[in-house]
Amino acid sequence: MKTVGIIGINGMVGQKMRSELDKIKSPFEVKTFGRHDNIPALDIAVLCTDNPVSRQLAADLKNRVKFMVDMSSEFRMSEGVPLVIPEINAHAITKDTPLIASPNCTTTGLVMSLAPLKPLYRFEEVFFCSYQAISGGGKKLLDDFHTPGSYYEKNCVPLIGSLLENGHTSEELKGLYESRKILEIPDLKVYCHTVRVGVENSHSLGVTVRLNKSADLQKIKEAWNQFPHLQYNEKVITPKEASGQETTFICRLRKDVEDENVIHYFITFDNLLKGAAMNGRQIVELLLEHFV
Ligand SMILES: NC(=O)c1ccc[n+]([C@@H]2O[C@H](COP(=O)([O-])OP(=O)(O)OC[C@H]3O[C@@H](n4cnc5c(N)ncnc54)[C@H](OP(=O)(O)O)[C@@H]3O)[C@@H](O)[C@H]2O)c1
Repeated sequence: MKTVGIIGINGMVGQKMRSELDKIKSPFEVKTFGRHDNIPALDIAVLCTDNPVSRQLAADLKNRVKFMVDMSSEFRMSEGVPLVIPEINAHAITKDTPLIASPNCTTTGLVMSLAPLKPLYRFEEVFFCSYQAISGGGKKLLDDFHTPGSYYEKNCVPLIGSLLENGHTSEELKGLYESRKILEIPDLKVYCHTVRVGVENSHSLGVTVRLNKSADLQKIKEAWNQFPHLQYNEKVITPKEASGQETTFICRLRKDVEDENVIHYFITFDNLLKGAAMNGRQIVELLLEHFV
């Protein structure tokens, strides 16, 4: 029997990963591991852990696990490590890619909206401002949020991840560099602010894209609706409706009032599902089907 191990089972992503793996139809055994457990030989290990732990685990497990799917950002930009959203770049996974990274949750929402437009337009510039849910910061942040007087209660905080010397945050640079890698557009310009808001679950982004030619809104909506797990809605969709759903929702598409090459829209999606555990499960599904 094939074996898939979830490491970091007690965290936000680990818990979701458990229920996500139940959706896979083909037979395999799930094993779960917490902080102090010994990890045996496995076909696939899904690392639902923070960066330093993932780095350590990747080294420790190298010789006894066939494939690792890492949910952290530790290896996402490493040469030879595919950064995969199965709807977009499943082709990046091969028998020779034993370590596969799952992308940043906010980046996932953005590139899900851009990928279907890539055959239609060249992206001159992309700007987004994120409205990121508390659950994206892990269980400690969620516990903090539920403590009376939390800084995040009825607030929005424009600082996610670490503040770098150049004034950007690590989260913002993920939006730039991970988008380029997933979309295979090395010179893509992405300008962003990432902001934590007092919303328990599901991330949102307000997006502005400058295209290389006049936008055809009907064509764009059709391209979105033909793409798996993506849906354009004429009515407003908010994180409340997106939570628990596999779909990335887009609404409020409009042309700029002065520049017909520029579009504006709003995205919302469940950061723990498409932004994490669902995407990880889709990668595991691909591995089980083709490589294990
Ligand atoms: N939350 C999201 O929306 C999201 C989205 C995309 C990617 N990610 C990434 O996914 C990873 C997990 O995020 P999270 O939100 O689930 O964080 P979390 O809630 O803090 O969970 C992390 C888990 O890792 C466990 N852990 C720590 N050291 C370990 C070890 N040596 N062996 C096994 N388990 C260990 C912790 O155990 P204890 O319970 O004992 O502390 C905890 O349960 C992070 O890298 C994060 O950046 C998160």
